Amino acid sequence: MDFIESEEHLEDRLATPSSADCEMVRRLEGDVVILGAGGKMGPSLARRIRRAADAAGTHHKVIAVSRFSSATLVNALNRDGIDTIACDLLNRYEVEKLPLCANVLFLSGRKFGSTDRPDLTWATNTIIPAYVASHYGSSRIVAFSTGNVYPLVKVNSQGSAETDAPDPIGEYAQSCLGRERVFEYYSQEYGTPCLLFRLNYAVDLRYGVLVDIARRVFAGQPVNLTVPAVNAIWQGDANSYALRCLEHCASPARAFNVTGPEIVSVRRAAEFFAGRFHRELVFEGREGDRAFLGNASLCHSLLGLPEVALDLLMQWVAHWVERGGANLGKPAKFDVVDGRY
Ligand SMILES: NC(=O)c1ccc[n+]([C@@H]2O[C@H](COP(=O)([O-])OP(=O)(O)OC[C@H]3O[C@@H](n4cnc5c(N)ncnc54)[C@H](OP(=O)(O)O)[C@@H]3O)[C@@H](O)[C@H]2O)c1
Repeated sequence: MDFIESEEHLEDRLATPSSADCEMVRRLEGDVVILGAGGKMGPSLARRIRRAADAAGTHHKVIAVSRFSSATLVNALNRDGIDTIACDLLNRYEVEKLPLCANVLFLSGRKFGSTDRPDLTWATNTIIPAYVASHYGSSRIVAFSTGNVYPLVKVNSQGSAETDAPDPIGEYAQSCLGRERVFEYYSQEYGTPCLLFRLNYAVDLRYGVLVDIARRVFAGQPVNLTVPAVNAIWQGDANSYALRCLEHCASPARAFNVTGPEIVSVRRAAEFFAGRFHRELVFEGREGDRAFLGNASLCHSLLGLPEVALDLLMQWVAHWVERGGANLGKPAKFDVVDGRY
């Protein structure tokens, strides 16, 4: 089994482009800017695109924009050939100074703490998109969103499709629908090709829904079954789709569900980890019959299935947790049903 043994190894796996990534970058016209690049997904996305361009022999610039509280991250990205710009995207004048770029990947957002500072959550998730969409009206934009714009659906359904109406629960998810609507508005007004990237949930071994379940089992803590199922996708595959979605932007903006093909039962995932770790399983909460589930068949039919299948991802997570691998301490809170994060 091809396990991931260290953070260096993990970063390398996340940043290694697929052949489809390299082919796409060979066709891509113009540079790439990643806005909100300082979080969990941005650094590995930037590196993947840099490496894809290098492998394809192209001269694309990859520019990472974020507030960048950590100089270590800036230095590491620069060493990897990625340009960085420190910018508070909530400052309109700073946004107006950003270099124009044909391709925009928009990752900025705020989820946790949404109940303490709902004003900041709404500002981050709706005002920043307005500044960005206005500045980058002549670019194509992949705007990260979330599957939480849909309501809870029955776990025995196929999951929410792009044609289903959004009906977000709680202020975080509502503000994410606001983010989408702002991008849709500018896409209509300026003719900006745009894609609303409705992701649920990325797993990178240091965080993610499967990691949350595995860590609870490993620590002998109860696993909550109130939300009985989840979607999950290897972060490398999510980032590969994000890059390749640049070729699927449209005006009016189109929605695109992004996740793995399976509906993952929380109970069965916990049983798998308990078997691997030789732990007693403890559950809590009344097992529900609804969850936030996206149906990503459109994504899979256009861009292919994820390269890392669920079985392998579960093995990677188990091995990582068992060997005491690093953890970001940022649980996905997949068991929240009232939308209060
Ligand atoms: N990861 C997942 O599983 C998942 C699932 C569903 C949806 N999403 C969405 O996908 C996007 C990327 O995910 P992620 O996990 O990388 O999110 P994340 O860890 O929250 O990263 C987003 C980054 O945006 C930057 N940002 C926030 N406010 C900013 C501001 N005013 N100016 C400049 N930068 C700002 C922050 O970096 P700085 O502190 O450096 O500014 C932050 O780390 C997010 O919008 C998230 O909501 C992610």
